[in-house]
Parts: sequence; structure tokens; C-alpha cells
Amino acid sequence: MPARSRGSKLHGRQNVHVEVEPRTVFAGRILYRGRIIPAELGVSEEGRILKVAPSVRGGRRVDLGEALLLPSAIDLHVHFRDPSPPGSVEDFQSGTVQAALGGVGAVVDMPNTDPPTTSVERLEEKGDRFRAKAEVDGLLLAALRTETRVEELAAQGAGFKLYMAPTTGDLAAPPGTDLRPLLERVARTGAPVHVHAEDPRLFQEGLYAVDPEGWAAKRPARSEISAVRSLLPLAEGLRLHLAHATTVEAVELARGAGWSVEATPQHLLLAATAHQDARWKVNPPLRSVAERDALFGSFKTGRVTMLASDHAPHALSEKERPFPEAPSGMPGVETMLPLLLEKVRSGDLALPTLVAAAARRPALFLGLPRGHLAAGMEANFLVVDFRDKTRIRARDLHAPCGWTAFEGREGIFPRAHYLRGRQIVEDGEFVGDHTGLLLSRGDGAGASLPAAPTPRTAPRPSSSPNPSSAPSVPSPSA
Ligand code: NCD
Ligand code: ZN
Repeated sequence: MPARSRGSKLHGRQNVHVEVEPRTVFAGRILYRGRIIPAELGVSEEGRILKVAPSVRGGRRVDLGEALLLPSAIDLHVHFRDPSPPGSVEDFQSGTVQAALGGVGAVVDMPNTDPPTTSVERLEEKGDRFRAKAEVDGLLLAALRTETRVEELAAQGAGFKLYMAPTTGDLAAPPGTDLRPLLERVARTGAPVHVHAEDPRLFQEGLYAVDPEGWAAKRPARSEISAVRSLLPLAEGLRLHLAHATTVEAVELARGAGWSVEATPQHLLLAATAHQDARWKVNPPLRSVAERDALFGSFKTGRVTMLASDHAPHALSEKERPFPEAPSGMPGVETMLPLLLEKVRSGDLALPTLVAAAARRPALFLGLPRGHLAAGMEANFLVVDFRDKTRIRARDLHAPCGWTAFEGREGIFPRAHYLRGRQIVEDGEFVGDHTGLLLSRGDGAGASLPAAPTPRTAPRPSSSPNPSSAPSVPSPSA
């Protein structure tokens, strides 16, 4: 952070650069080099951070007191079901409102909609729907199938989702499909491929699963590891991203091959038992307590590079069908960050690790000027107070599906959320007015904004697994 505390003046040698007066100055505390320090953010009319300093002059002042300003999260994995036939319990409007309230300022939406996102026409149509309804920003993925017009879709700015096993939407390649020619074409476009890694050859088809524990046995951990391994020889020149990792072995295989890796709150915090119903049925399945704890260990050390929700809402009536017929997936975009912020509050996770996984690395992955609070970045940030510990109740959440697998757990929801300097959440209530933009990878986000410097250094894998090295958080004073 620049130590200078004075505002507008010409910048020494390049006297072409005149500092713009901030429209708003936000005063609070920020995370800076692993410590929480008082700071002020000067934000321009267009919603860029102009300056971060101990004191910034000019503009309207918003004094946020002792509260912590954190960059908005970016959720790399949501299913907002738009378009989908009547009866679906989500669309871009409801999905992005939940995102805003959960501290997520941008989402990457998956292509297993109905109809699926398999062509440029469908991508454009989906983009129009997003623009018409979005309260936070978003990017759209296209489905990667043998007939996919890879070059055209990549040129539209979409990344790809590769389903290696059957799941909601039926987009998996038929067993035995040679993926090499397809992946070679993708590699030439430079577009990333988000991989749903499960190898169906290792599914226990004869096993009749009636609970999540059985589901985990039917779609075992080794099928995830095998799916990652099977892609390694085909991965040359590809930018691969492992979606919803469930095992440390898959994480290590993927990281060793240069992939990025996401994990979801459900795989980090929940485990499969024989007592849960189909609300806990997800693909890939929840694992054992030991596997979950090991995965959380990898998250704490930054080996799992990113956090994502895999928000996949299904109507309760669907989830109440007999376990084998019930669909897989659970909602989670609103609770993702609050659940992990609570892990920080309780001392189980270092705040810099969470911020890197939820905001900074996803921003770098997508090539967007956001994800940390510094001059040149978009002013997308949350106001968090660690004293705001709340018990999660589905009735207090905003998911139209009306249920959560995290019922009764604790979370820390942001008090406020600003997107490009405009407030979209105030005192925990949604106050946005259609602020979301449709983005594409690396386009600098929000075409109306001046080009921002991209961060020069890649974020260090937060190497502070030691909870005692977590920055001090406001102690829950009475
Ligand atoms: C997802 C859904 O319902 O769209 N379900 C899930 O269990 N994660 C599909 C998927 O990504 O597998
Ligand atoms: Zn998914």
C-alpha cells in the first residue's frame, strides 16, 4: 500500500497522469500483507479503486468503523438453471440475489441448463437472459462435447465444462469416447476446461445406494482419481481446472500437472452418513469424515487453490423422491463464504488463505481486475464484522428451493456488499438495482471501465496453515 497519505497531485515524471478525485471514500480496515490494518479506499465514479492509503481525501465519506473490507468472492461454479422449463427453482435473478447476499460478486454459470449451452446461439441467448436479470456479474461456460464448435465458442469468451460422468443434464460423453481430438482443439484456443472428474468405469453399478454413504461407495473416490489420471496424457497445452475436488489424491495429481483446483463447502465441511436423505446427495458424493478432514487440510495450506459452491438447487419435492431417483446437487452460493468466514473466526482457517481462494485466485484465473483491494482494481467489496455470527436457517436464506444442507450451522454473512462502488447489500438486505454485468474471460471486466493494471505477481499459495498465524479478528466482544 502506498504510504503517501495526500491526495491529488501530479505523479512525478509521467505528468500526464492526474489523479482523479474519488467519488467516495470508504474508511474501515483491510487485510494487507497478512495483517488487518485501518485503511481508506478512494473509489471513482466508474467504480474503480483509485487509491488505498491510511487516509484518502475527497468525495463522500462512508465510515465503516472497525469493520473489515474484503474483496467480493468469485464463485467459479454455479447452476442457475436459466433457461430451464417451468418448475425449476432458480433463474439468474434469484441466483444472483443469493450471490450478492452471500458476498459473491461474480459467478461462473454452468452449461447443463435446459436446453444446454452447446452452441454460440445458445450462449448468446443465455447471455441476453443474464444481462436482463443479473444483480452480480457472471460468465457463462459452454458444454464440451464431441460436436461442440470449440473455436467459435472460445472466441465468444466462454470457457468449457467437461462432464466425464453422467450427472444432472446428461452432458457426459458416451463411455469410450476418445477425447483427444476435442481437447487438442480446445488447447489451441487457450480456453480453460473445468472438469467434472468422475470415471464412470469405476462406478459400482450393482450397488443400490439408499443414502449418501452408499452414494459415496457407488461413485467412489478412486473414480475421481482415475478421471484426473486419464486426462493427464491428453492435457498438453490445456488449461485444466478440477471442479469440486473431493480427495487429496486427486488434488495432488491435478496440482502436480499444473491444474487449478476448486473445492466446495459441502466437500470441505460435510461428510456422508447413512442417516442423511437425498438433500445430501451430490456429484461427486460427499466422502468420509477422514477424507473430508484431509481435503480441508489441503484447503488450509492452499493446495486447493480455489473455493466454489457448485450451487445446484433442486426442488424439495424432487429431493423427497426415493433416494436412488432423487437428483444430485444442493444450493450453496449464499452460504459458501459465510461458512468459511466462520472457520476463520473460530481459528480453523487463516483469513489470507480464504481471501486468496475465494477472490484473488479466481480473479487471476478469469483474468479480471478484481479479487483484491488495490488501486486499479474494481471496487467490489464486502463489509464484514466477525461478531455477526448467525445460525443458518433455510427460512432466512433466499433460495427459492427453500432448503439448505447447512441448516443450523454457523455463518458470518457480510453486512454490506458493494459492486463497482455501488451498494447492493445493506444491513444484510439486498438493495441492488440490476448492477450485474455479463463478463468474459480476461476482458478487463466491464467494458466501460478503463483498463486496469493486472496484478504483477501471482498470489503466493498462502503458506500459513498454522491457525495461530491467522490475523487477529475482532474478538467477539459482548
Ligand atoms: C449438478 C446439478 O444439479 O446441476 N449436481 C451436482 O450434484 N453437483 C450437476 C453437476 O455438476 O454434477
Ligand atoms: Zn456442478
